[in-house]
Amino acid sequence: MAHLIDGKKWAKVSREETAEAVKQLLQAGVQPGLTVVLVGDNPASQTYVRGKEKAATEVGMRSTVLRLPKEISQAELVSVVQKLNQDPTVHGILVQLPLPVQIDENVIVASIDPLKDVDGFHAVNVGALSLGLPGFVACTPLGIMRLLTYEHISVEGKHAVVVGRSNIVGKPMAQLLLKANATVTICHSKTTDLASLTRLGDIVIAAVGKANLITGDMIKSGAVVIDVGMNRLDNRLVGDVDYASVEPVASAITPVPGGVGPMTIATLLYNTVQAATKAL
Ligand code: GUN
Repeated sequence: MAHLIDGKKWAKVSREETAEAVKQLLQAGVQPGLTVVLVGDNPASQTYVRGKEKAATEVGMRSTVLRLPKEISQAELVSVVQKLNQDPTVHGILVQLPLPVQIDENVIVASIDPLKDVDGFHAVNVGALSLGLPGFVACTPLGIMRLLTYEHISVEGKHAVVVGRSNIVGKPMAQLLLKANATVTICHSKTTDLASLTRLGDIVIAAVGKANLITGDMIKSGAVVIDVGMNRLDNRLVGDVDYASVEPVASAITPVPGGVGPMTIATLLYNTVQAATKAL
């Protein structure tokens, strides 16, 4: 029987800590401000953005959503971002991805002031993480590290196996684990004999976007299993981990929903407070 890592509970704790930090900043005369830019009408993006807006408002931040038409040109979007870069009331800028086909995501991310890049996607922040320098770290992997800290799960000296190599989760996750003195293996879609590698993991992070890919026979007894997956299966939300077969083998596991997801949004607020603090 694995311990259930309650992401909802820890996200609430994180938001309470952030609300306290917002109070302190207000006393110093600064209200942290987050602006989310949403282009077009992707339904999933609309849901995510509403969640971010609500969470930011609840902790006392100034929360703005710029909703822009899907026909907007790349140059126009760059100029929107540049205005936000110049606006002293905006401490955090998040451009919701994906963007429409006429727009190159890399160009837009590169136009965000790295000091306001609370998503941690800008090359300057990605490079800083790689060098072990301070900077913003992507909210999902940073949220997972914060979740492990809340749970007093130490990673030092452990073998962490990251399944997935995306720029948003897998790669920064591996960097953070390495920085925390884990031994890190990164697996991906071209890895041969995935199970032989996941079975080595004291900690397994599943971030590939394939429903129920990780099954109990792929997990070492007593491992900590973190499920980043958000897959729709028969109109249900399921993770990358087959919970039913992994739960009896693991020592701790995150559920989907209610695991990593809530911590991701809580960590966006955490990053925004950091941005406002640096701007003091
Ligand atoms: N789309 C899906 N996840 C994310 C995220 O973390 N940040 C942004 N900006 N867009 C996303």
